[in-house]
Amino acid sequence: MGLTFVCHYYPACPEPELTLGASKHTDDAFLTVVLQDQIGGLQVFINDKWINIPPVPGALVVNIGDLLQLISNDKFKSVEHRVLANHKGPRASVACFFSTSLAPSSKLYGPIKDLISEDNPPKYRETTVQESTSTSPTEIASEEEQNYDKISDLKAFDETKAADEFDKVSDPGKNELYVPVVDLDGVEKDTILRKNIVDIVRDASETWGFFQVINHGIPDTVLEEMLDGVRRFYEQDTEDQLTGGTQLIAIWLPTLRVQMNCQNHAESFWLSIPGKRELGRFLFELLSEALNLNPSHLIDMDCAKGLAILYHYYPACPEPKLTLGASKHADYDFLTVLLQDHIGGLQVLHQNQWVDIPPVPGALVVNIGDLLQLISNDKFKSSQHRVLANNVGPRVSVASFFTTGLMPSSKIYGPIKELLSQDNPPKYKETTVTEYSLHYNAKGLGGTSALLDFRL
Ligand SMILES: [Fe+2]
Repeated sequence: MGLTFVCHYYPACPEPELTLGASKHTDDAFLTVVLQDQIGGLQVFINDKWINIPPVPGALVVNIGDLLQLISNDKFKSVEHRVLANHKGPRASVACFFSTSLAPSSKLYGPIKDLISEDNPPKYRETTVQESTSTSPTEIASEEEQNYDKISDLKAFDETKAADEFDKVSDPGKNELYVPVVDLDGVEKDTILRKNIVDIVRDASETWGFFQVINHGIPDTVLEEMLDGVRRFYEQDTEDQLTGGTQLIAIWLPTLRVQMNCQNHAESFWLSIPGKRELGRFLFELLSEALNLNPSHLIDMDCAKGLAILYHYYPACPEPKLTLGASKHADYDFLTVLLQDHIGGLQVLHQNQWVDIPPVPGALVVNIGDLLQLISNDKFKSSQHRVLANNVGPRVSVASFFTTGLMPSSKIYGPIKELLSQDNPPKYKETTVTEYSLHYNAKGLGGTSALLDFRL
């Protein structure tokens, strides 16, 4: 009786490996009918594998939703699916959801009586469309069913999935854990203060893989201007976007992604504030000291040599429950420095729970990437993180990745010799940044860490 149309427009994505067009989810409707274009990217999760649903000219894709699985008492299956981001694009699709979710109704739905027998007792209790769309399927499972061992057909709702991307493990805002905030004020003048700061950075890098820095020397007005520039760029006409748009953005575009292999260029981003410290290099100094190494050690290893900058714009999402701004992933680089706006949504997986990284005015979020975990021989931690979609917005962020990425380099990285001992033998084999990033990209997001494949 109810029908909701959602029209999707996924722009061509410069970094498909860091993004999903639509994260893994099931539909909460009875039935969905999708018209997709020729670009492709839609996948369905069958037998532990992602299977492509290739575009067929003139075809419509039909899929069972959660409510049909419920009333069919698991006879029909609401299967997880996702849309991969694509270099090509834009990808456009029109999805029609058969559901009265937005029209208040007290009509009750439970497993259809004619389908129920002694051998096939109801697996779900009765619910309304409104309740089922705002509740996780496990919460609707009948009491008896909650006590049963889950049969394989119910796998989509089992505990491991509940701990995955669309889990409700963390209730944003209610957790009491905080990512450390490091105040850099006075760090260069006071050696005792610097030692304290290094201790905090070490502790944060070992336990969280994340920290925020304040008083880093980049004025708030510059940070605001960067975020405004991203907003302006994404909100102008497509034609202007391609030609470079506003003055501020013209430095960074048209690719939206700037990869620089030359130290001078890399520094120019951080040195755009006259007289201030070079924040990227300074962070590597603190991290070197946190590893009890010479302050220039990581810089001498060329960890700060390459810089890739990504500008994200997440529009306000009408269906935040069905979407993640960015799926769970760890970064493949050495270090990431993120400027996020006031909207929030970034979370880190810490001690098996999702913890908010709340926007702190003027702060930059710093996180350890896989390559720094590798060369620190697991002393520092590359943590998984994600961005929740939000119905307020747009959310804007600027992420700076310290990596030489796909630029050809034969430089070999392995666990730093000075950190190794008989008690701490190397945990990873040696690799190049290119080899690691190719492996990371080929592996894709959402699975096990790409780092595991380099463990000795
Ligand atoms: Fe990331």
